[in-house]
Amino acid sequence: MKNKFDSLELGQFIPLHYHHNMLNDELRMKAFKAAINMVVKPGAKVLELGGGTGVQSFFAAQKADKVFCVERNPELVRAARSFLAANINGDKVEVVQADALHYLPPEPVDVVICEMLHTGLLREKQMPVIASFKQRYLEKFAGHRLPIFIPEASIQAIQPIQQDFYFEDFYAPAILFQDPASIQERSKGLADPKVFQLLAYADSFNQTCCCDSEVVIAESGQLNALRLITKNILAINLETKDTVDWHTQYIVLPLAAPLSVFEGDHISVRFDYQGGDSLNVLTDSLEVCHAGAMRQDTKKLSIVA
Ligand SMILES: C[S@@+](CC[C@H](N)C(=O)[O-])C[C@H]1O[C@@H](n2cnc3c(N)ncnc32)[C@H](O)[C@@H]1O
Repeated sequence: MKNKFDSLELGQFIPLHYHHNMLNDELRMKAFKAAINMVVKPGAKVLELGGGTGVQSFFAAQKADKVFCVERNPELVRAARSFLAANINGDKVEVVQADALHYLPPEPVDVVICEMLHTGLLREKQMPVIASFKQRYLEKFAGHRLPIFIPEASIQAIQPIQQDFYFEDFYAPAILFQDPASIQERSKGLADPKVFQLLAYADSFNQTCCCDSEVVIAESGQLNALRLITKNILAINLETKDTVDWHTQYIVLPLAAPLSVFEGDHISVRFDYQGGDSLNVLTDSLEVCHAGAMRQDTKKLSIVA
């Protein structure tokens, strides 16, 4: 259910100091730099949607002739202009203050970079922005092919886990984030992640993210949470068959009623939401059902509010 704080809550206005965390995120930076270097060819024209500090446009400008960097937040527009002026080839980047949902470049582009990526494709507007861009671009530049998108695709999965929610004896089953690159001592996977969505941005897609999956438990334990995983394929090299991938942080969703599960049990997980929705739209629709392998009873779990 939406509330009046949604527009602030939904990743639309990320303050400048938080962009420092993103610049400092080595895996994110290296992955985007490698993807942009792989995809942008010398002399290319590039559009970045949601430019922030301008860092991805800077990467693109090392090879491109021209980069249009679209950012809505005036504080970031000022910051991007001043940072780019201090960096080599920054003069190839035109920072445009505009809403990416409405902006189109004055000429066709070869590559579009869009990092409005939150786990689950929630909060940030990656899906609506790219869908809107494609429709308007093909109308304006009839006869032109779509540019290559960075990322090319996002793959989403769900994993049943046993999560330790005790903190110095304080029990707090709250939604939490996990660094995908770190070993999570407090989490035990009870089954492999189950893919529920494969979204290729160049293909046509609707705005719904829907999971209707059955997961077979591989390890017995207490099922008390689900881990939401979003892996973004930033670039694909068809010659070498390599990809450049980047995971956003995992989200762990606690379940209201922990359940003992045994190897071979079948758990069904259902939810749906629209790309860019707040997390509570996912949790409001979440249903987790356990049909024991031997017993035929079904137990429905609900998420902790
Ligand atoms: C996750 S940040 C990424 C920033 C930068 N591209 C980077 O990789 O460091 C997303 C950026 O998109 C901007 N943004 C969000 N919605 C937008 C919109 N509708 N139009 C233009 N910019 C938008 C935000 O202000 C923010 O700077």
